[in-house]
Amino acid sequence: MKNGRLVALVLILSSPAAMAQSPLDLLTAGDLADGERLFRIHCARCHGIDGAGGEGSNLARPALQYVNDDEQLIAIIDDGIPGTGMPAIWSLDDTQTTRVAGYVRTLGRLEAEEMPGDPGRGRRVYQDIGGCPACHIIAGHGIGIGPELTTVGDQRGLDYLRSSLVAPAEAQSQTAGYKDYLTVRVRTLEDRVEGLRINEDAFSIQVRDVAGSVHSFRKDDLIEFEKVFAHSLMPEYGASLSGQDLDDVVSYLMSLRSER
Ligand code: HEC
Ligand code: HEC
Repeated sequence: MKNGRLVALVLILSSPAAMAQSPLDLLTAGDLADGERLFRIHCARCHGIDGAGGEGSNLARPALQYVNDDEQLIAIIDDGIPGTGMPAIWSLDDTQTTRVAGYVRTLGRLEAEEMPGDPGRGRRVYQDIGGCPACHIIAGHGIGIGPELTTVGDQRGLDYLRSSLVAPAEAQSQTAGYKDYLTVRVRTLEDRVEGLRINEDAFSIQVRDVAGSVHSFRKDDLIEFEKVFAHSLMPEYGASLSGQDLDDVVSYLMSLRSER
């Protein structure tokens, strides 16, 4: 099936007349409506019902990070983006993939979603009130126990960012890419450490504590060893930040995008 499409694509590309025309340009309004329906089934749980993003990137903006043309858009749906939370969507056949791609392309022509607050103020909340640089790096500044946030606005949408701040453990457990953020608690005769598991094999485990120091243990030396699932080392900010502060920080995070 997939190979068949590849051959067809090569044929289309080698015919000069068809070269300028993308299969997306041939879609009818009915095809696009079907694309929207398929988007809701296969994509909305990550990209939001209107494509404005959640666990997956905001697709309702004029320039996407990985997509320069229609062909790349189709390839991403077919193959996913290796090394990220974007999976290959195998359950769509070629016609359906083209329709979904066509629908996604219409999203980018809508206005970029509005920010709920003031990103400039949010930057100060991030640095001063929130103490976020103690755990996150943005453009080289901060300490890196949490994920780097330099381009988080490309990858995550408004609702996901807000829930990352208010209910981090819940947001984290929804995110395929962060299965690696496992909290562990270990105790030896001399030491007791809670932190993120960095590495583990049959004999040893390495843990990064909240201050950023890495500890290495031999499993034989452990008196206690607990894996704490669905737990985040990140504080919940719902109470410590005001509603305005939260809106502003989320806006600041949304503004963190790669230059394009
Ligand atoms: C399991 C969650 C998940 C599903 C399901 C999913 N995506 Fe994604 N998608 C992601 C994530 C996460 C990213 C961001 C990858 C990154 O930048 O690290 C992404 C990225 C993308 C991008 C690239 C955006 C850019 O800025 O270049 C496109 C396009 C895309 N997805 C389209 C789709 C379509 C269309 C579907 C449904 C057919 C879909 N995705 C289903 C999680 C998902
Ligand atoms: C004590 C360390 C710590 C502090 C302080 C902290 N975080 Fe986090 N943060 C983490 C960790 C660890 C994760 C990884 C996911 C998880 O474990 O919840 C994370 C995840 C996130 C995510 C999700 C990123 C993604 O791509 O999924 C966002 C957004 C975020 N933090 C923003 C903030 C902001 C904004 C602040 C300050 C208001 C902050 N964090 C303060 C440790 C911290």
